Amino acid sequence: MTTVIDDIGLLVTNDPAIGRGALGLVENASIVIDDGVVVSVGPAGQLADDRVDAAGRCVLPGFVDSHSHLVFAGDRAEEFTARMAGTPYDGGGIRVTTEATRAASTERLMELTARRVGEARRYGTTTLEIKSGYGLNVIDEVRSLEVANRFTSETTFLGAHLVPSEYVGRTDDYVDLVCGEMLEAAAPLAKWIDVFCERGAFDADQSARVLDAGKAAGLGLRLHGNQLSEGPGVRLAVEKGCASVDHCTYLSDEDIEALASSNTVATFLPATDFSTRQPYPNARRVIDAGAQVAIASNCNPGSSYTTSVPFCIALSVRDMGMTIEEAVQAVTLGGARALRREDLGRLAPGSAGHAVILDAPSYHHLAYRPGVDVVDRVIGG
Ligand code: NIG
Repeated sequence: MTTVIDDIGLLVTNDPAIGRGALGLVENASIVIDDGVVVSVGPAGQLADDRVDAAGRCVLPGFVDSHSHLVFAGDRAEEFTARMAGTPYDGGGIRVTTEATRAASTERLMELTARRVGEARRYGTTTLEIKSGYGLNVIDEVRSLEVANRFTSETTFLGAHLVPSEYVGRTDDYVDLVCGEMLEAAAPLAKWIDVFCERGAFDADQSARVLDAGKAAGLGLRLHGNQLSEGPGVRLAVEKGCASVDHCTYLSDEDIEALASSNTVATFLPATDFSTRQPYPNARRVIDAGAQVAIASNCNPGSSYTTSVPFCIALSVRDMGMTIEEAVQAVTLGGARALRREDLGRLAPGSAGHAVILDAPSYHHLAYRPGVDVVDRVIGG
């Protein structure tokens, strides 16, 4: 089936060979999508049976949200409220969500996840990575991945999210379980493996073991690092060849150099810094050093309960030193790179026909109108 998105006032292609600047901007454009793939970008006025009228507004590639934890039950509004009153975030609430998730039926987890996926889509997300990590035993990690697989092919095994209550004081034994029986059961259901390398979660040696085991099982590598303090996470991620290291809130000069000389994407999660009252990372330093960056929602019940990529764009521009163009690119091409997906993040011939039509004349409105739903329609994905 052929779809034409016509009368696009301003099109973001992310292909400088097609249009102006890094965003590859084209005015008065149309795009033709055949069987889900962009086949051409041209002037407005093309015909097709399925014609979507952008009415002179802005169209950009669908957002690629490369970090989310959508499979969970329970609520941690009280923890958030306490944080706003000064209690620091330490990740310990992961165990509260683990208890609620283990107690929920698979049907209920499916329903809750579907609701969150639908919400993300309404805000323009066409590709979502979804992690496990609130099961923390073999049965419930597998169950979480089975649910995640119903919504995305970008599934991540995060058995090494936190040591569950029954293993407190026996972290190495838990790492044995994650790298053994749990990984064996999870690997067929996951594309990626992830580990939370942070004080209070897993140290560098334990994290390295998890990544090595995941790689041996054929999974791609990702890492949560440098969220609550400087630490070994970023350098370990680079050394192990992770596709992405996520959070990057506290970065030393050495970390930035390591990122800049690597293929590992630095993924910022600004809604987390917002919801945990952490300082925002200085993305400017990272970009100016030449590292690749992405921005993702990190939607989860503890540190960042939002599915809104536009909200993350607004924070990145307001508080992380990014230009609007850099932020838009970080949630499209950046997310695609963080998932090693060549087919996503552009609206150019050969790319997936995943598009967002804004109810606005330009992409600037994504940052300029914070908290307002500026997405009119989402196509594909
Ligand atoms: O990325 N840091 C680890 N994991 C999540 C938080 C999960 C939670 O608090 O429930 C994060 O922020």
